[in-house]
Amino acid sequence: MTTQTFDARAAMEEYRAAFESGSEDFFTRYPDSELYAPVRYLMGLGGKRLRPVLVMAACEACGGSKDEALPAALAVELFHNFTLMHDDIMDEAPLRRGHATVHEKWGDNLAILSGDALHVMACEALLDAPEGALPSLLRMYHRTALEVCEGQEQDMAFETRDEVALEEYMEMIRLKTSVLLAAALFMGGASAGADTVTREALYAFGLHVGLAFQLQDDYLDAFGNPENFGKQVGGDILSDKKTFLLIRALEKAGEADLESLRAELGAKRKGKVERVLDIYRRLGVDTELRKAMADEVALAEEALIRMKASRPDALDGSEAALALLQGIAEMVTARLN
Ligand code: IPE
Ligand code: IPE
Ligand code: MG
Ligand code: MG
Ligand code: MG
Repeated sequence: MTTQTFDARAAMEEYRAAFESGSEDFFTRYPDSELYAPVRYLMGLGGKRLRPVLVMAACEACGGSKDEALPAALAVELFHNFTLMHDDIMDEAPLRRGHATVHEKWGDNLAILSGDALHVMACEALLDAPEGALPSLLRMYHRTALEVCEGQEQDMAFETRDEVALEEYMEMIRLKTSVLLAAALFMGGASAGADTVTREALYAFGLHVGLAFQLQDDYLDAFGNPENFGKQVGGDILSDKKTFLLIRALEKAGEADLESLRAELGAKRKGKVERVLDIYRRLGVDTELRKAMADEVALAEEALIRMKASRPDALDGSEAALALLQGIAEMVTARLN
């Protein structure tokens, strides 16, 4: 492990702790009633807190403070948890962060409603951001929220489509996942009062990190270890998600494999996950995915280098924050959950 990665991980822990304490304070604003029980449950299960960490790191890298970053950090994490609550209904997922999903515990109706509440809470959190930054933050937040919905719509629609091109998949994951990571970085910069060029450069960097992140998510959904993944391994295969793996397998398969894959799609016969995984391994699409992910990491790193070159002083606020930004793409691809 290089010194840089070590610093990045240490910085990550520090931002996480700052976020947890800010989040605890924020929740005292809300009553202890039934509507908020699923909200507190899901938020209480933790998760990596990647998005709020990115907000805080970008803010400090641009010379701002954790306190200035906190409203935007809360907004993106609350919004993220809202999308997870609804995503788990859509994906019929039984497990989240190693525990029963909200809709499994409380039913779809409360999962929908508590998800809606989370979204409103995210907007409320954002209103406490530094006043000068608010217009830019609100614009970015709302544009991103709509894009995530657009991505989710495509993700669902692709389930029942016979063919999806790899470019369509990349656009879908840009929308459902990458834009939120990009927005987190942009909003961190905005909270620190960074100029437009810097904010946009942070956004461009975040898009590539986000694409790598979703590719790894697809990989873990198929090949992850159920002990630490925290979600149902094979869920994407069971619901015929047009992931990188399935799209490339359909493109590469010879006649026999193609016939086998087509027979699995639309059906949920016993042993489906294992049979599809065998085909993925045989065709080497797992290796291809890791190559595509490495390409996105390289693009993210280039975006950061370009930014440093064009704006030498832009990210001079904190060495630890910069180390985190520099290490984040690698950390994302090494994650196990
Ligand atoms: C899960 O996000 C949803 C995706 C975009 C893949 P995370 O993997 O960041 O989930 P948590 O917050 O750490 O649980
Ligand atoms: C995540 O996609 C996108 C959103 C939640 C908006 P996934 O459906 O792959 O996320 P997980 O795997 O359930 O966390
Ligand atoms: Mg989904
Ligand atoms: Mg899902
Ligand atoms: Mg997934």
